[in-house]
Order: sequence, then C-alpha cells, then structure tokens
Amino acid sequence: MRHILDIDDLDAGELGEVLRRASDPNLTAKLTGSGVALVFEKPSARTRNSMEMAVHQLGGHPVYIQGDEVGFDKRETVEDVTRTLACYYDLLCARVFSHSVVERMAALHKAPVVNLLSDRAHPMQALADVLTLKAEFGELVGRTVTYIGDANNVTRSLALATHMLGARTRVAHPQGYGFDDRDLAVLAKAGVEIEFFNDPVAAASGADALYTDVWTSMGQEAETQQRLSDFAGWTINAELMAHAADDAIFLHCLPAHEGEECTREVLEAANSRVWPQATNRMHAARGLLHWLVDEVAT
Ligand code: CP
Ligand code: NVA
Repeated sequence: MRHILDIDDLDAGELGEVLRRASDPNLTAKLTGSGVALVFEKPSARTRNSMEMAVHQLGGHPVYIQGDEVGFDKRETVEDVTRTLACYYDLLCARVFSHSVVERMAALHKAPVVNLLSDRAHPMQALADVLTLKAEFGELVGRTVTYIGDANNVTRSLALATHMLGARTRVAHPQGYGFDDRDLAVLAKAGVEIEFFNDPVAAASGADALYTDVWTSMGQEAETQQRLSDFAGWTINAELMAHAADDAIFLHCLPAHEGEECTREVLEAANSRVWPQATNRMHAARGLLHWLVDEVAT
C-alpha cells in the first residue's frame, strides 16, 4: 500500500509519471464507484476545492469532513477514526496540525493516505508548484528556484520536488526561521542540497523563480507579532524581483498576506504565476489520485 505523506514518498520516475498524468486531458475515470474522504483540521480554499473537483473528474465521490466532526484523539483515537473511514472510502486524505497524525493513519495500512498539509509537509502543493515551473521552463535541470521567507511545510515539499527534477534550490530566511533538525534530516536523506542565504537579495540574484509563503502558518497564530517583527525587510517586492533573472516568475502557494511576505504589485505583475499555480492544484491532484489508484491495484 502506498501513502503520500510528502513528495519523497514518490521516486523521481513516479513523480514524472504523476506530472505526466496531471497534464493528460483524457484520464480514465479511475475512481468510478469510489469514495474519497477529505478530512480538514484547518481551513482551506485551494486544497479542499481542487481535491473535490479532481475526485469528481475521476468519477469518484469526495466527502468533506471537518476535523472536529471526527475529532482525532478527542472523540476517538486517530487509529479508530482511520479504521472507520477505511470501511467506506478507498482513499483517505487529511489536512492536520501534527504530521504524526497522517503518519499514524498511514501506519495502519487500511487505505492509502494522502497528506493535504501538515506542520511538516504540503506535497499536493509541491506537485502543483513543479507542474507550474515545468509549464514555464520545460526541464528544470539548471534552473534555480529561490524560496524566501519562513522555511516551513511548503518549503520542505518544494525543495524535495525541485531537487527530484534537477533544479538548484535556494532558501533564504531570517535567523531562527530555518528548517529544524528533523526536516534537515529528511532533506539530507533525500539527497537534497540546498543553498541557504540570510540575505534575500543574494538569494534572489539570477534566480529563475522567486517563491514565498506566509510568515505565520496555520497553528502559529500566537507568534504573529513576533514574526512580523522578525521578518521585517523580507517582503518580496518589485525591487527584489528585479534581482532575479530577466524571465523570472513569481510563485506563492496562497493565501497571500499582502504587504507581509509579498506586495500586491508582485502578485499582480505580468510575471506572477500564482493563478496558474492555483489552477494546477486541481490538475496535480487528478494526476496523483489517478496514479495512486493504479498503485493500489497492483
Ligand atoms: N495553498 C493551499 O494549500 O491553499 P489552501 O490552504 O487554501 O488549501
Ligand atoms: N505554510 C502555510 C501554507 C498554507 C497553504 C500554512 O501551513 O498555513
């Protein structure tokens, strides 16, 4: 049984196949007669809706379940919720606070588990990110993708995915906002070599894409004021974009906090690809689910 808790649950060949299927307009309706559980402990605009539409496009039935309704470790254990949902659904997808929840769900091997964002990883986002980068640049070998901001769940999955496609990856963050030891170990195990910067201008210099995400992720709200202070000067604005390559693009997983990690001008600029990137969430989800159903069948 296969689970997708982060991008490194795919090998490079499998990632290529998922991306190929994501771009295939004629995928078969592999989920006909199947239900897909979508459990959300946190809010979502893109992930919920792209997953629902991807399941629908594959002929399946998506069911949105609020985290409080099943109450992981509150109403009953993560294990009992998982066993219950596996009675009805062929795929279990969850957005959770703690990555350990999706790990515990997967450990039961009752049904394939897909991580829809945890505190550690956001693989469905990374699939859309590399789909967007490939649409722009073709092969990513020799390209430089620079992430500027908080080294978080989105950054980890992005770095894994860009590495697998041969891109150079740079991460620039203020002191104290880099990857923790556990994430560094995951990245090292996957062979990811990241160039770290403490200066956004140096990190942006000559890059093919500048990527950012919120400074305060869901679950970190108590740190908002401290983070606003610590990230001062780290906003991606037109001036910073100008240090990137002439044909560089701007990426953001969204939602954007305008005036914090990026300006409205950068979001709306001609070289912003944030809306194709959001659109690609649905295509990437369709490709991944189609591939995963085949994996389950073999
Ligand atoms: N990028 C992303 O995951 O967006 P949502 O939180 O709206 O799903
Ligand atoms: N890092 C953000 C991503 C939101 C899509 C968070 O976890 O809230």
